[in-house]
Amino acid sequence: MRNDKPAVGLDPAIWPSSARRNSAGALELGGVDCRDLVAAYESPVYVFDEIDARSRAQLFRQAYESAGATTVYYAAKAFLATAVAKWMTEAGLGVDVASGGELEVVLRAGVPGHGLLMHGNNKSIAEIELALTAGVGRIVIDSFDEIVRVADVANRLGLVQQVLLRVTVGVEAHTHEFIATAHEDQKFGLSVASGDAAEAVRRIVKLPSLSFAGLHSHLGSQIFDSSGFHEAAVRVAAFARSLRDEQGVGVRELNLGGGMGIAYIEGDDPLEVAEMAEQICAVVRSECGLAGIEVPALAFEPGRAIIGPAGVTIYEVGTVKPIELDEGLVRTYVSVDGGMSDNIRTALYEAKYSVVLASRLSSAEPMLARVVGKHCESGDIVVRDAWLPSDVVPGDLLAVAATGAYCRSMSSNYNYLPRPAVIAVRDRLTSVVLRRETTEDLLALDPGA
Ligand code: LLP
Repeated sequence: MRNDKPAVGLDPAIWPSSARRNSAGALELGGVDCRDLVAAYESPVYVFDEIDARSRAQLFRQAYESAGATTVYYAAKAFLATAVAKWMTEAGLGVDVASGGELEVVLRAGVPGHGLLMHGNNKSIAEIELALTAGVGRIVIDSFDEIVRVADVANRLGLVQQVLLRVTVGVEAHTHEFIATAHEDQKFGLSVASGDAAEAVRRIVKLPSLSFAGLHSHLGSQIFDSSGFHEAAVRVAAFARSLRDEQGVGVRELNLGGGMGIAYIEGDDPLEVAEMAEQICAVVRSECGLAGIEVPALAFEPGRAIIGPAGVTIYEVGTVKPIELDEGLVRTYVSVDGGMSDNIRTALYEAKYSVVLASRLSSAEPMLARVVGKHCESGDIVVRDAWLPSDVVPGDLLAVAATGAYCRSMSSNYNYLPRPAVIAVRDRLTSVVLRRETTEDLLALDPGA
């Protein structure tokens, strides 16, 4: 249980840049009152500050390019819709997709294939065909099986596909186990230490329908400093050198993935974007220098850090239930009209969030609250420990910050809840990014309904 002081105001490190209280005391995003958003689009509703998302995309591209990188891809898995694909490409970013479905969305947005990169540890033949037909710029190879699969499709289509090899370098990123990916004992990539990665390169370069562009290493997610990237750079540079010396193969490109962290709660303190970019790129340059190899073209794939802080979820309070704990302490369960179906991150990763009373200001004493959803599970928690005004009542609106990444994209229809609408706000205007699902949408899948 958190016993620290309740946060006051809307910390700009956590909330989107346009978040403010209007004269009625209600939270406003992009100049739109959250009460109007709920009136128009129902509750819950995901709200994206479009200017904030676009500015972060530009900030990332500029910071990483100034630090020496050549390409920044937006990691679509964090959140994707055609509007978002357009925001990102208009900011000069490529897009990293991890499935045929994500690829379809990006193509429907009119984004040309050459700026795209495709991931996945088990891409189907159909996904590979779709990607190659669309002219996707890079396919990231993740297994021995896939080398043959991608080469066969490319061969059939009569083209030469540029590929990167995803390698695991044995670095443990300081993040939750389920979102750390560069340690050895997990499903992604091929291990450098075991020799599998070297063997994979040997096989790739023999195949005329594949062109080996270089290496990919993604450490994990929600990383606050550059130390993991430093360690990865040391190991990737040593591996690149061994490829040159033992196989005569050059690594033209190095993609270090995404994973740059954001502030969810007060006290979260990730490195500034430009500083992180400088540190990572500098360390790659110096490690390549030490290894005596040419510095490859550098690419990155941030997702969360671009779209996460731009998103806010608005919920309506349905019930308020004080529970007496030991020593006379009271925790008040505040139930909202969504929950683990629209934000699974608290249940899955013990993620922490900031929440405020959004529909009005209150001067009531703060109370220790737990914001919970409406699903049939006690683990259905949105914000485990929150300070909310003690006069919160049914009908009030709550806003949860930094829900732009991995909330809508990991949402479900648990308990047959329709997914909330996703609304972009800017300059006092709203636009529908994804409409709210209806129960009819869900029933349409059931031939007996
Ligand atoms: N590149 C690759 C190869 C990835 O696997 C990922 C994320 C990214 C880039 C983007 O990472 P980001 O910059 O967004 O951290 N669902 C988890 C995060 C899983 C990340 C999966 N891969 C969460 O909600 O925290």
